Amino acid sequence: MSELIYDLEAYKAKARQAVAEGVVLLKNDDNVLPLKQGSTVALFGRSQFNYYKSGTGSGGLVNTKYVVSILDAMESDEGYILNQYIKGIYSDWIKEHPFEKGAGWGQEPWSQEEMPLSEEWVKQARQQSETAIIIIGRTAGEDQDNSAKEGSYLLTEAEEKMLQLVCSEFERSIVLLNVGNIIDMKWVERYNPTAVMYVWHGGQEGGNGVLDVLTGKVSPSGRLADTIAQDILDYPSTANHGDEKRNVYVEDIYVGYRYFETFKKESVLYPFGYGLSYTTFDTSVTQVTQSNDGITITASVTNTGSIAGKQVVQVYCQAPQGKLGKPARVLVGFAKTEELQSGEKREVELSIPYRALASYDDSGVTGNKSAWVLEAGSYAFYVGDNVREAQLSGSIEFKELQLLEQCQEAMAPITEFERMYCTEDGKLAYQPVPLQSVDPQARRLENLPEEIQYTGDKGYKLADVNSGKVSMDEFIAQLSDEDLVTMVRGEGMCSPKVTPGTAGAFGGVTDKLTEFGIPTACCADGPSGIRMDNGNKAFSLPNGACLGSTFNEALQEELYAYQGLELRKNAIETLLGPGINIHRSPLNGRNFEYFSEDPLLTGRMAAAQLRGMHQYGVTGTIKHFACNSQEMKRHEVEAVVSERALREIYLRGFEIAVKEGECVSIMTAYNPINGYWSASNYDLNTTILRQEWGFTGIVMTDWWAKGNDEGKLGDRKNIAAMIRAQNDLYMVVNDAATNSHEDNSQQALKDGTVTRGEYQRTAKNICNYLMTTVAFNRIQGIESELDKALSAIREDEGDVVLEMLPINVDQEAVIPGETFNTDRGESTHFQALITERGFYQLELTIRAAAGNSELAQLPVSIFRDSSLLKTITLTGADQEWNVFTIDLEQPLVMNNAYFRVMFGQSGMEVKDFKIRLTKSMEEEIRKFFASQV
Ligand code: BGC
Repeated sequence: MSELIYDLEAYKAKARQAVAEGVVLLKNDDNVLPLKQGSTVALFGRSQFNYYKSGTGSGGLVNTKYVVSILDAMESDEGYILNQYIKGIYSDWIKEHPFEKGAGWGQEPWSQEEMPLSEEWVKQARQQSETAIIIIGRTAGEDQDNSAKEGSYLLTEAEEKMLQLVCSEFERSIVLLNVGNIIDMKWVERYNPTAVMYVWHGGQEGGNGVLDVLTGKVSPSGRLADTIAQDILDYPSTANHGDEKRNVYVEDIYVGYRYFETFKKESVLYPFGYGLSYTTFDTSVTQVTQSNDGITITASVTNTGSIAGKQVVQVYCQAPQGKLGKPARVLVGFAKTEELQSGEKREVELSIPYRALASYDDSGVTGNKSAWVLEAGSYAFYVGDNVREAQLSGSIEFKELQLLEQCQEAMAPITEFERMYCTEDGKLAYQPVPLQSVDPQARRLENLPEEIQYTGDKGYKLADVNSGKVSMDEFIAQLSDEDLVTMVRGEGMCSPKVTPGTAGAFGGVTDKLTEFGIPTACCADGPSGIRMDNGNKAFSLPNGACLGSTFNEALQEELYAYQGLELRKNAIETLLGPGINIHRSPLNGRNFEYFSEDPLLTGRMAAAQLRGMHQYGVTGTIKHFACNSQEMKRHEVEAVVSERALREIYLRGFEIAVKEGECVSIMTAYNPINGYWSASNYDLNTTILRQEWGFTGIVMTDWWAKGNDEGKLGDRKNIAAMIRAQNDLYMVVNDAATNSHEDNSQQALKDGTVTRGEYQRTAKNICNYLMTTVAFNRIQGIESELDKALSAIREDEGDVVLEMLPINVDQEAVIPGETFNTDRGESTHFQALITERGFYQLELTIRAAAGNSELAQLPVSIFRDSSLLKTITLTGADQEWNVFTIDLEQPLVMNNAYFRVMFGQSGMEVKDFKIRLTKSMEEEIRKFFASQV
């Protein structure tokens, strides 16, 4: 039974399919792809040896059992003859130029030095092989953005030279971009390779998925989820991206294709939605019908080519310019077909609610301030392969303005600036942004929740609420002030209260709380697989940019159903993902984790992933709410953005995930938005999220995030501001009970800056969420058949090669720091030769190396045999020596004891590691006999 439940082979196949469907083919002259059986292929580029399975940072730290690179996959396929001559040259050079890992968070270089190619090598390779495949790699991640420089957004000189030599020598040259984000593409015109394909970061099955497309087993069906413009300066966000204090969203709603299709068509190299296939499709609209709910478009898709393939039907709307001004195109619906055989025809029905066509009036220019409206006029629908080529396929008309939803002004800017808009005759113009007129703090005071009278402990457990014996209010009434103020603190990283090596524990973080039957829930990064810093293995999934390009919701759901099972197997209630920030700029360092520049695609993908995880009683925490579009100074830089752009672009994906994906957990962003740090932004977390969208789940901060009071700067200790905003959980502290973080949670309740009612409201949010979790079953001792079956599965962790360092322990042994390999993922194993049986203590002295950013997360795990003793996570700020001791609970009685120290992230320094005898057992034995005399 268990094999059927957690079928690793099926999981792998689904991930492989996701990679193959995410790959985007941009150019394929003379049908050079798919490769013919028996082709001779020369692989160029060092990335053949350094395949990037993902970006870096929290979203990239999945410890995988294996990663199949493109080279591995090609080597495993006997249909091709790989050029060994050129491979040998690369492999020798790489020995001298090993992969540079960098130290800590965001410190790995975004690209690796490329081998300078000689003309002679290329000529020689061409004599032996007819096709060249050139792999170019880029990573990126937290704390550091991409830059419009060589080695990041631009190719390096050596990469350009490689392209120039290889593309001029080989008539068949295929470029594969193993990147997490779009990069500059001007070189395509310069070197004219025969084929170009974005293969993204594909996780552990990445190479296999790419192979399937190269060989033609799968016809590519990935589509660009971002616009590729001529130049980085063409993106309207570029001018303001990277400011250390303020990122002004001048382009307003004109993000990505919304901007280019409206104002700058000529600057687009590859439009949004673009991607080639090995076959051809005829897509024609057969019907457009209108009902009370919206529009239904029926399209008929025929595979007119000779190979099986999938088509992505895309529907764009051009709304009347009206008074608000609208983008020339907005994606309002999409659907991917099943695989269609040659000649096969299929009908696709797309339901488009009116809300998808609507605009948000933040100025009142339509006479409906703070409302979603459809301005009067004609709404034209364009259907087709991509935003540029979609054909006019029907339209509807509104004689009068339609008021769809009246909201309240919320999150409006407090800083004046001019935003972009489109005039009635379609010209780009600027207008002053409407500013805040309603004080969110006054709104909060009007909406304060009523306090529930404290009753003391009446013996009710959370399970009594679930069974209907008592109401939630009666249950919450039992919680003391201390219970309430501790409950808002999540613990981590690597809390021993939950699954080892994970990011956080929350809910029942004190004995007192667990006595009330409040379970301790576990959350782990995310999004592309489970991160366990103790070295435990997990499945590494393709990254967001790849998944977004699949345009396949059903596939997301299926893939994340497996992820759900894996979470459940590891007793993790919520994955910290999907990441659903908008690709506002190609320079954002974390774009690899996110899906797209388009909010509808983003929201739908997120909702599908959530539905997948929900199948197994676990969930995802969508993040980072909101506007985390820049990594540089991510704790400080303020997003200054209009309410309209927030509603239509930056919050929209979250709204869809909440409404269509039944999201129950959200992580706020680090950055402030219009004056309030996200975690303490009342309008974000209460007015919009809960009151308007009807969200009933939990909101947690990003790790060690800041909150602020009106007009003040953000502060990590200001939990009070977060609770007022209804950000329920501060993540993370070492010890909730002792207030190790020295936050103002308790003080705020005492001095009334947060009411008891507000703490109770947050406690209710947390408890309501916890009642939906498997942790809630666990605390009641209920184990489902599924959990029994999952826990019975033992996975082969693979053989560990021990490099033994014999240590003679005579009272105390000191292992010097140099002994340890502190690189990411590296373990140092050693053997202690025990001369005296007894109880021992381990002592590890470590610090963060200089050069780490302040919030770099640096985990180290210590194992005895294969059991984890402790995982310690330093931050980049911990640059003084820190001493950690571990008392071994079990005595060392054999001559040999085995230990392992594993570093989850580069960037830590070890002073030394000591093994110290604390209590001799011989002595105990002697004492025992003495007492018998
Ligand atoms: C990241 C989050 C992540 C958290 C926990 C933060 O640095 O921004 O996305 O979930 O760490 O690892």
